[in-house]
Amino acid sequence: MNDAKEEIRARLAIEDVVGQYIELKRKGRTFEGHSPWGVDKTPSFMVSPEKGIWHDFSANRGGDIFSFVMEVEGISFREALEKLAAQAGVDLSKYSGGDKQVAKKKARAKEALELACKYYQVCLSKNKPVCEYVFYKRNLNRPTVKEFRIGYSPKEGKALVDFLTKRGFSRQEMTDAGLLNRFSGDMFRGRMMVPFIDTTGNVIGFTARVLDKSEPKYLNTPETILFNKGRFIFGFYQAKEAIRKSGFVVIVEGNMDVISSHQAGVKEAVATSGTAMTEMHLRALSKLTDDIRLAYDGDEAGVKATERAIKMAGDMGIKLSVISDYGAAKDPDELIQKGADLWVSAVQKNMPAVDWLLSKYEERFDLKTADGKQEYSDLAMDLLKYLPKVRQRHYRQLVAKKLNVEVEDLGEAAKNGKKRLKEVKTSGKSIEDDGILDRILSILIYGKINAGNDFEVPKDKNKLAELEMIFDRFYKSWAKENLEVEFEELCKKRQKKSVEIEIKELNDELARLNDDEEDKTNEILRKIQDLQKTEKK
Ligand code: UTP
Ligand code: MN
Repeated sequence: MNDAKEEIRARLAIEDVVGQYIELKRKGRTFEGHSPWGVDKTPSFMVSPEKGIWHDFSANRGGDIFSFVMEVEGISFREALEKLAAQAGVDLSKYSGGDKQVAKKKARAKEALELACKYYQVCLSKNKPVCEYVFYKRNLNRPTVKEFRIGYSPKEGKALVDFLTKRGFSRQEMTDAGLLNRFSGDMFRGRMMVPFIDTTGNVIGFTARVLDKSEPKYLNTPETILFNKGRFIFGFYQAKEAIRKSGFVVIVEGNMDVISSHQAGVKEAVATSGTAMTEMHLRALSKLTDDIRLAYDGDEAGVKATERAIKMAGDMGIKLSVISDYGAAKDPDELIQKGADLWVSAVQKNMPAVDWLLSKYEERFDLKTADGKQEYSDLAMDLLKYLPKVRQRHYRQLVAKKLNVEVEDLGEAAKNGKKRLKEVKTSGKSIEDDGILDRILSILIYGKINAGNDFEVPKDKNKLAELEMIFDRFYKSWAKENLEVEFEELCKKRQKKSVEIEIKELNDELARLNDDEEDKTNEILRKIQDLQKTEKK
């Protein structure tokens, strides 16, 4: 796991991770911002990009990107690791070296899926009516069918199970691969099979379409150890070269749209298979290009999906646009059936997503009425607050002009795309919590004070980096003798604090005692008195 942590750390800048939650300003070699936990008046949160650590002076805590996400989201280390791994594009399964069992399971599932894919491909070539559907009804040509490895699953209930059993696969292994139904028969029967292929070319699942009008139209592999639909991007493997070369990606709704689009020469098309776009999808794509074109339906669902995409993109630095110019065609596939060139030119006529949405809102309301203006402006403002400042200003002016009002009338300017915090945690106060110990240690270590062995120097690299940051912030230019004085005073404060806490704890204990526990009561009272004496000194 340490390797995975290092890899993630290397790929993510701490100021970007923290910057998703709070606004940071550069101050020399560090960044500063307001504490996500406290009610600090002056910025008390610091980030050091060089050291990859943060420290919060008001809540007195600190650490690396992992501890930050854990604390700010209130999640476990494992969850934080997974979240950051996804952002960094790090495949954790590659690092679970200790987890040989899982790695082996995955390898077997991949083998089963690869064989299944080949089997389905052969079944297609042997079945005339199915070829008819694929080649004539869907108009796919041989190179396309080959590239996307399209196949056919036989109707017989156990054709694939028998095939894989003969080749030494157990039911469990087939289940792991997502190839069995509840009754241990074939999951897919009598359907056109399109494999899900991961970024390195492995088959990790299938989407399967009926050849007639029966339901459900598509059946997809369920979530398995290999297939996660929130992460998977259909067509990515086939599209990534084109995306890199032409510098844009087209996101279509259906998997068949992806395939048709490739055949029509727009090889930059991908789809989020049978699910809404997630932040993981967006992040993965934004690593290849910042020009992301959405080819969703112009219907209500398409509007909603576009809104979500804009809000997710926030300030990720993505240019989102919408491809909407496909006339009466229901989806890109239909348009391509009318003429591949129609699709090719539609892709070039993309419109910034915000402009497109605003025009959709405009259709919805009567902007001549007060109510219409209000509703339009509410919707627009809700959207705009997710945009970076400059874009936001641009659109506020546009909206104001449209409604014939002043920009200031549009209400509260905005949040600048920052996510709100999910949870505000209050820490239980302990003696370490007031930051005194951290300051003492920072002087001890980085101010090179000779102080005997009263304190244990932390060994953790991150903790040391954090202490160095504290030293830099408070004591950097201090003369040695001043440091010594400060050190003494902090030690006294800490001593006093620890006595206070001890007294408080004894008082609590006293309150819990019963009336008949006289001896115990006296003993505690004596202790308290002793402590109070040392406190006065
Ligand atoms: P559509 O019904 O628009 O299908 O669903 P389509 O892509 O145009 O399919 P064809 O052209 O009729 O073959 C859009 C997407 O929603 C998912 C699929 O990913 C599909 O591509 N879907 C749809 C399912 O997962 N299951 C279904 O039953 C239907
Ligand atoms: Mn379609």
